[in-house]
Amino acid sequence: MAKKGEGQRTFFRIMTVIGVLVIGGLVYSFLGAAPDLSDSTYHKNSPSAEECMQCHVQHLDKAPIMPHRPMGSCTFCHQPPD
Ligand code: HEC
Ligand code: HEC
Repeated sequence: MAKKGEGQRTFFRIMTVIGVLVIGGLVYSFLGAAPDLSDSTYHKNSPSAEECMQCHVQHLDKAPIMPHRPMGSCTFCHQPPD
C-alpha cells in the first residue's frame, strides 16, 4: 500500500472538521427553531406528551397543529415558560 501523502492527510482532516461543523450546525439550528411554550394556562403544570398532542393534533382552541411527527419529550425542544 502506498503511503498517503501529508497533503492528502491534511485534506481529509479538513473535510472531517467541515463535516462535523455542518452536522452540528444543522442539529443546533433545528433545536433552536422550536418555539418556546407560551406562558398560558394551557401549558401550566408541564403536560405530558400525550396531553400536548390532544390539543396539538387538532385545532382545539386555536392550538397550532404540530407540524412534525411526535418526537419523544416535547419539552426537550419546546422550553416551558418558567
Ligand atoms: C389544553 C390544550 C393544550 C395543551 C395540553 C398544550 N397546548 Fe400548546 N397551545 C395550545 C393553544 C391554544 C396554543 C395557542 C395559544 C397560545 O400560544 O397560548 C398553543 C401554543 C403552542 C405552541 C406555539 C407557541 C408559539 O409561540 O408559537 C407550541 C410550540 C405548543 N403550544 C406546544 C405545546 C407542548 C409541547 C405541549 C405539552 C408540553 C402543549 N403545547 C400543551 C393548547 C395546548
Ligand atoms: C427535536 C425537537 C422537537 C421535539 C422533541 C418536538 N418539537 Fe415541536 N417543533 C420543533 C420545531 C423545530 C418546530 C418549528 C417547525 C417549523 O416552524 O416548521 C416545532 C413546531 C411545533 C408546533 C407549531 C408551533 C407553531 O407556532 O406553529 C407545535 C404545536 C409543536 N411543535 C408541538 C410539539 C409537541 C406536542 C411535541 C411533543 C409530542 C413536540 N412539538 C416535540 C421541534 C420539536
